[in-house]
This record gives sequence, C-alpha cells and structure tokens, in this order.
Amino acid sequence: MKVAIIGTGHVGLITGVALASLGHDVIGMDANPERVALLREGTPPFEEPRLRELLQEGMQAGRLSFTDSIKEAVGGTEVVMICVGRPPIGLGDRSLVAVESAVRDIARHAPRGVVVVVKSTVPPGTTARIEQVIRLERPDLEFSIVSSPEFLREGHAIEDTLEPDRIVAGSDSVRGIDTIRRLYAPLLDAGRRLIETDPRSAELSKLASNAFLAMKISYANALAQVAEKAGADVTEVTQIMGADARIGSSFLGAGLGYGGYCLPKDIVTLERVAERLGYDFGLLREATKINDEALESVARKVEEAVWNLEGKRVAVFGLAFKAGTDDIRGAPALGLVRRLLQEGAEVVAWDPMAGELAKAEIPELKLADDPMAAASGAHCVVICTEWPEIRGLDLDELRSQMAYPVVVDGRNVLDGGKASAAGITYHSVGRPGAPAAAAP
Ligand code: UGA
Repeated sequence: MKVAIIGTGHVGLITGVALASLGHDVIGMDANPERVALLREGTPPFEEPRLRELLQEGMQAGRLSFTDSIKEAVGGTEVVMICVGRPPIGLGDRSLVAVESAVRDIARHAPRGVVVVVKSTVPPGTTARIEQVIRLERPDLEFSIVSSPEFLREGHAIEDTLEPDRIVAGSDSVRGIDTIRRLYAPLLDAGRRLIETDPRSAELSKLASNAFLAMKISYANALAQVAEKAGADVTEVTQIMGADARIGSSFLGAGLGYGGYCLPKDIVTLERVAERLGYDFGLLREATKINDEALESVARKVEEAVWNLEGKRVAVFGLAFKAGTDDIRGAPALGLVRRLLQEGAEVVAWDPMAGELAKAEIPELKLADDPMAAASGAHCVVICTEWPEIRGLDLDELRSQMAYPVVVDGRNVLDGGKASAAGITYHSVGRPGAPAAAAP
C-alpha cells in the first residue's frame, strides 16, 4: 500500500521504517528540512536499535523516501498517518495547533478515497475534530478516518512496532478498519492481536495506558517511603506483589521516578481532559505529586550524605530518562543536576549515550568518559539511570576513586550488601540503608 507519514519523530519514523519493512511504499514528511536531509542520507536523527539498518534497507529497496512537502507526500497516497508531536494539554490550549495545521494541509492535497490514520497521542474527540476540519476544507472529498494509537517504548521501538501486544483500530468506518488490517496483515497473520473499537475509546486507551503505567511507578515510590520508615525493603515487597498475575511485576521499580516525553505529559493530559469533562481525577494529580517527591527525596539523600553541597563534587551516573536511549526529555537526572548545581556543587556526569545532549542543555555540567573518571575525587556518586554497565562496576575500585565513599542509588541497581562490603556508605530508595561506615 502507499503510505504517507506526517511527522518523522519517534512515532512517525519508527512506524514508517516498520511499514516499509513489511513491504509498503512509504514516504515520510517532515516540516524540518534539516531532518529530511539527514534522513535522505540514511542517518537516523535519534538512536534506536535496528533503526539505522531498517531505514537504509527500506531506502535501498526503493520503498522508503522523505520529503518536506505535504503536497508531495499526500498526493496519490492511499493512507496518511498523522504522527506530529503534541505538547501537554495546557490551559489556553494551543497544544493541538500543530495537528490542526497538518490536517488542513493534508485535506488540501489528499486524493479521493484516502484513509487518514491518527497516530499522535491526542485527547478523546480529536479524531472527530480532524474529520470535521477535513470536511470543512474539502466538502467534496471522500475519505475514512481511524484512530490507531501507538504503544512503542523508546529503546524498544522497532521491536514494539513489529511485535506489538495489540494493534488498535478505532473507527466508525469499515473501510478504515480494513485498511489497518491490510497495513498490518503480516503481523496479524503471525498471531498479533487487532482490537477494533470506536475512535474515542481508542484515543482514551492510549492516555489511560500511559497514565496507568505512571501511577504504578508512583505507587511503588509511595510504598518506598513507607518501606524506609518501616524498615522493609520495597524491592522485596514489589517482587511479592508482582508474583500475583493480577498485579504483574513490571513498572513497580521505585527510584527517581518516571521521566521521558510521554508518561509525565500523558498523565497530566488525562487529568486535564477529565477536568474539562467535569470529573476531578485526583488520583492522577497525586501520582504526579509523588513523582515530584521521588526526585526531591533522592536530592535530600545526597544533601544529607555530603552535608553542604557548596564546593563538593558529585558524580552523576546516567543522564538519559531511562537506559537504552539518548533521550533526555523529562529526564529526572537533569532535574537533579540543576538542583545540585544551584546548591553550589560541581557536577561531573557519565552517560554512554546522552552526555553531549545534556551538556547542550546544561553547559555547567562536566562530562566524563567512564564511570570511574566521573567518580574520581567525588564526594558522592548518585545513580540516575539504570544503565547495565553500572551493575558490573568494581565497587572496590569505585571506593578507591572517591573522596568520600558515598553512593546514592536512585535506581536501586546496586547490591547494598556488596557496596557496604566494599566500604561504601550506600543509600537507595525504599531499602534499608547501609551502616554509615564512612559518613563525612
Ligand atoms: C512510554 C510507554 O511505556 C509506551 O508504551 C508508550 O508507547 C510511550 O510512552 C509513548 O507514549 O510514546 P517510554 O516513554 O519509552 O514509553 O518510557 P517507559 O519505558 O515507559 O519509561 C518511562 C519512565 O519510567 C522512565 O523514566 C523509567 O526510568 C521510569 N520507570 C519505568 C520507573 O521509574 N520504574 C519502573 O518500574 C519502570
């Protein structure tokens, strides 16, 4: 099928390369000509496993191309996928301006019979609005519209797209649903699940899923506070909870809290959507508050561990909002770094992927090539991202590098017993503290 993808951000580009790998003819459109130039060279604008390979394969096979012209992308296509970004719903609400402006352009150039698929995460009712805009712009145009939200995780985006738990097709049009079925036919033939529903339920399902994941993390973080006071270990507690299939063990990791471009934004969006509809979804507000407190609590542990931050050197392990990506949008690590710098600390960070991006945001931040170099002369190490490299660190060497042997583990990745055995004063989240062997 001929598919035009509008917006080559995380969702758009991944969907485009994935559909090309399934044999479709895909054209990716982006308003940013620099991004288009990069993509035409076969260079992905962000890191994601297998992205480069599939991008280049698709282009070499002649099934994948890029343009900055909506007219070129949309003219003659069978399917248009709207994948433009959206900031959180605000009060004066300009958050859907990019979506509306893309839709007007699409309507102007779309051919008869086109199927418009909304992939951007949007509040319920947006697909209906988009349909209205197209009808007003082109009363003569025959078209169908589907809401098909994307559930891909950064760092696993290709895998999540080609091996999804579910594909959602929300439409009142049989042709719309049939188009999704044809687009993803190889995945459905391989046993992947298609859930057919109405557009509003599809739209709400995406916000509901992300908000629920965020809530689960905040539950674990609130529990961590209780565990610390009760002398329990939150990782033991969540392991026992997770063994119950009704609860499940994923997304119960206590720590610095959730970050990224999606969870923080979508939980706030769902709360505001509910508010506008006349429902006070206080549960979500509380989850956001707990998330803010999770960062605050780790910051306090660093302060308590080193006393005055002024003139102290703090090593930060991990800057990306999670392991496996260079994405620093909404990264809790950056919030913590800013806070430490404000208090007068010198901050030296190590991250295998996100260092330069973080430094561009926070120029005072110093970067080190490896964890030991960052820890050298540090009064405290604070672990902010669960990079697998950290688990394998030689703790004796780490201790010998540091001015004060204090580690605040904001992701609960180290073994507290081993850290203490190496002479490190170890603080984590919701786990019993190590004996204060070497407090300053
Ligand atoms: C999230 C969802 O997981 C995807 O399903 C969704 O498609 C995507 O948003 C989106 O809307 O585009 P992503 O932003 O890639 O994916 O990140 P997650 O893997 O969900 O992690 C979010 C944050 O939660 C990270 O900062 C991570 O460190 C944190 N986290 C995760 C915890 O603090 N504890 C956990 O147990 C799990």
